[in-house]
Amino acid sequence: MAKHRIAWLPGDGIGPEVLEAARSVLDASGLEADYMPGDIGWNTWLREGNTLPERTVELLKRSDCAFFGAVTSKPQAEAMKELPARFRGKGIKYSSALIRIRQQFDLFTCLRPCKAYPGNPGNLKEGTDIVIFRENTEGIYCGAEWGRVPPEFFSVRGMERVSPNAAISIRAITRRASQNIARAAFDHAEKHGRTKVTAVHKANVLRATDGLFLEAVRQIAGEHPKIKLEEMYIDNCALQLVLDPLKFDIILTTNLFGDILSDLCAGLVGGLGFAPSANIGQKWALFEPAHGSAPDIAGKGIANPIAAILSAAMMADWLGEKKMALNIEAAVAVVIKEGNVRTPDMGGKDLTSDIGKAIAGKLR
Ligand code: NAI
Ligand code: MG
Repeated sequence: MAKHRIAWLPGDGIGPEVLEAARSVLDASGLEADYMPGDIGWNTWLREGNTLPERTVELLKRSDCAFFGAVTSKPQAEAMKELPARFRGKGIKYSSALIRIRQQFDLFTCLRPCKAYPGNPGNLKEGTDIVIFRENTEGIYCGAEWGRVPPEFFSVRGMERVSPNAAISIRAITRRASQNIARAAFDHAEKHGRTKVTAVHKANVLRATDGLFLEAVRQIAGEHPKIKLEEMYIDNCALQLVLDPLKFDIILTTNLFGDILSDLCAGLVGGLGFAPSANIGQKWALFEPAHGSAPDIAGKGIANPIAAILSAAMMADWLGEKKMALNIEAAVAVVIKEGNVRTPDMGGKDLTSDIGKAIAGKLR
């Protein structure tokens, strides 16, 4: 048995394409691992009426961590419409496989670095180097949703302001999850010599939920006196990130805000092709490029695999293979700087596999 056991989940669209390139880089890095393939996502839904079959969950439980490409996901009504007839009338409901994994495995930390690698033509501002810590299990993505207000809700004070035929999504924030993500952000700051954490919120309007989030963040900040805590409203943060990304160091925020801000930050450093991510829990983690299945370019072999390859470096680091992680990131940086191979998002004409080969070549 190899040293590490990695559940390998290519998924849909460009997921399998970028994972193939990432795999060639992992192999060149010398990582000793068993890669255990698993089914997940839209194609699995169409085949089996389930985006995350039980055998995939079992596979994840047997692994040290997972590496995930991307999945296509659609609104409930559309997903049900495309579900093959043989699965209908069985009470099957559609749900996002990735959100299910994050919640079931309590992967409370979503870590998303956004770094402007020198020589990347997509950089908006050289020197940008931001790490986002996004709470990953609750908030408005907690999954408590209704197409109409459940009648029993109207016995609750305040609900009379809500129209009975309104659709409802609940924003649930707990002290525990807020403390967990805050601790992850401040620990990361200390470990990596960063000096400031910006907590992003909207507590002036979302008084109950973001009020609690801020309270938890301030408590954890108090335990880390060397790291500066800055508090910023989400709308202002979006503005400041565009005006002067160099002002930011670590961003700490709730689920939806982190989802949006991490795409914004990716845009500052060349787009989603450069945005890796890690979903980390107490003992298990899942690594993935932040992008989706990109149906507009899927099947053409032109997706940028750098986000996936940087995610692979984060995985090596988490597995304790620090040297390999540094080597992979350094190889990515060199290939970007040389500029000899570039996918279309970087203004070039090269293929996903060309970038994979170039980066793997630097490691051999
Ligand atoms: P997306 O991330 O797939 O694509 C957004 C834009 O960025 C597209 O123009 C795409 O071509 C481009 N892009 C993304 N990754 C790229 C790469 N590696 N290289 C070059 N260009 C890249 O987001 P979109 O279009 O909103 O969603 C497409 C599908 O993916 C949907 O079904 C959505 O639900 C799903 N999705 C899945 C995610 C996941 O699996 N983690 C995350 C986000 C969306
Ligand atoms: Mg997103």
